[in-house]
Amino acid sequence: VTDPQLRLAPPGSALPGPAARRHPTRRALIAGGLAITGGAALGPRLTRPADTPAAAALPAQADVAVGAARLPFYGPHQCGVETDPQAHATFLALDLAPGTDRAALTRMMRLVTDDAARLTQGHPALADIAPHLAATPARLSVTVGFGPAVFDRDGLAARRPPSVAALPAFGGPDRLQDRWSGGDVLLHVAADDPATVSHAVRMLTTDTRRFATIRWVQRGFRPAAGTLPAGQTLRNLMDQIDGTVNPRPGSPDFADVVWARGNPGWFAGGTVLVLRRIRMILEAWDAFDPGGKELVMGRRLGNGAPLTGHTEHDAPDLNAVDTLGLPVIDQNAHIRLAHATTPAERMLRRGYNYDDGPLPDATADSGLLFAAYQGDADTAFVPVQRRLAAADNLNRWITHIGSAVFAIPPGAPGPGHYLGESLLSS
Ligand code: HEM
Repeated sequence: VTDPQLRLAPPGSALPGPAARRHPTRRALIAGGLAITGGAALGPRLTRPADTPAAAALPAQADVAVGAARLPFYGPHQCGVETDPQAHATFLALDLAPGTDRAALTRMMRLVTDDAARLTQGHPALADIAPHLAATPARLSVTVGFGPAVFDRDGLAARRPPSVAALPAFGGPDRLQDRWSGGDVLLHVAADDPATVSHAVRMLTTDTRRFATIRWVQRGFRPAAGTLPAGQTLRNLMDQIDGTVNPRPGSPDFADVVWARGNPGWFAGGTVLVLRRIRMILEAWDAFDPGGKELVMGRRLGNGAPLTGHTEHDAPDLNAVDTLGLPVIDQNAHIRLAHATTPAERMLRRGYNYDDGPLPDATADSGLLFAAYQGDADTAFVPVQRRLAAADNLNRWITHIGSAVFAIPPGAPGPGHYLGESLLSS
């Protein structure tokens, strides 16, 4: 069967065990009589839609650069961290059912891995309900994380990365809500096409629902593919260039900042994600004058340059003073307080805008899904956020309403392996 719509398994990625039992295998489908024209007797889920009789009816996906683009799934690190951020992201947290022990979690991770391995390459998941939607991977990534409570299960306590734990209360702009906080397992699904994200989330949550319930779902966006020149920094919903000071993907510096070295050993090649849902009080921000906005941050709105420089990537001079002897970059400017005072405080900020509004009174329900990746959140996010919570000028215009921490395990090294294997096996 060469029809791409019926290609159920890429070579070498067939999964043994639960996935094979739950889904009809390609061999079972063929043995059961599903020929291109003979599937009707097997019911609607296994038949090829009658209105797409030939692949020729669809444009060749390979000709559509954005839709056809694929990211490698296997590797030492999970995809979706060192990846140039895609335009659309869904962060989804699961709470494991009480009966989901380590063996069941392993089964769940095998299913999730199998789905991710197929869908990211543009292949339908096994027994995919809507296989045509899988044909446009659009740089799909599926990144999985484990929250602190996962380590309370079946002898995993000694394997918890120390900073994958409840964060301290920071005070300041914190107004955390349970509905946006916590979670046992993170599914972070991102692609340059929202239909691709929707389909992948649907397939993944179909597979996880036997093991877990959904705790929260947060959707975010960045500029669509092709909207901005490559490499241009995100502009957030406060109209600021956001993400300038960040480790450069592919550099040794990035590896130092982001990837855990192995405390504990299974975690080498993983990273710790802190996800904060930060609401922006946009009506008040909009009413503030542009010069004031620049003093709050210490950078210019137009090109993101520090107030002591000319272009976005000029290094801020935190010691510069004006003619009155006052600091050019205010003592409580966001970039002064957020600036890493030691190498261990550095992090990758890879956030997404969110916009769930406007509310009935026409006020915004928007902000930032602030996503910070680091080898150890206790030495990076925590001290930086302590400084920001205490004094950041920006606090008047933001409220932290959600908070979650996840260990992002290393990647699956190749077919036959699953995400989380180094934690769950042995
Ligand atoms: C809605 C909330 C926030 C907004 C709108 C915001 C915005 C910005 C902007 C515009 C910059 C300057 C450009 C850049 O280097 O990216 C910046 C820098 C930075 N922010 Fe934030 N930020 C927010 C929250 C946070 C939080 C919660 C943290 C960490 C706890 C953080 C950490 C940083 C760091 C580390 C820098 C770079 C500082 C430097 O070394 O110059 N930000 N942020």
